Amino acid sequence: MGQKILARLSPDDILLIKQKVFGGRDDVSVDAMIVQGAYVSEEIRSKMGLSIVNPPENIHRMQRGNIYVGDTYSANMVGSILKKVGIEFLSAGKYLDFGCSSGSLTRILKAAEPDSQFFGVDPIKSSIDWASKNIEGATFKVSNVEPPVDFPDGYFNGVTAISIWSHPFINSRPPRI
Ligand SMILES: C[S@@+](CC[C@H](N)C(=O)[O-])C[C@H]1O[C@@H](n2cnc3c(N)ncnc32)[C@H](O)[C@@H]1O
Repeated sequence: MGQKILARLSPDDILLIKQKVFGGRDDVSVDAMIVQGAYVSEEIRSKMGLSIVNPPENIHRMQRGNIYVGDTYSANMVGSILKKVGIEFLSAGKYLDFGCSSGSLTRILKAAEPDSQFFGVDPIKSSIDWASKNIEGATFKVSNVEPPVDFPDGYFNGVTAISIWSHPFINSRPPRI
């Protein structure tokens, strides 16, 4: 997915990131380019559709770190699985990230597929409130622990659910975070 995001930069932008952050080196990974590039300038960040606004300590997210634009690891995993099974994101599809926490995957998927609509649900209200306020271009909703989710049947073209039932709610009480 990173390649799709990086592809929106000009050769001059790419050169600037390499010079400013990586001492002109060429052997830099795509993810390092997009993550570090997002911190080089607002213009580069905006071309990539990324944001460097990140949840504070009291808001749930799995990945921590100061230089962070979202969950590039899971986004790449989704991208490579889809490639393996020969499925592509539809150009104006609707996609749900089930158990999205504070939207770390949603924000990268939206950057990679800007013409599609992205949604995230999670029972943790503070995460959803943070994502709703801070992640542009996606819709977040608090979900119940038990089905159903609050969308019509057949609404989505695809659903991701990363690392959810390994961290279940017990007796409908939120996990300690
Ligand atoms: C380990 S975190 C993973 C968060 C995110 N998917 C990621 O990979 O960064 C597990 C998430 O699943 C959510 N969750 C747990 N039980 C759920 C349920 N029954 N329905 C929806 N989300 C649930 C939690 O609130 C939490 O945000």
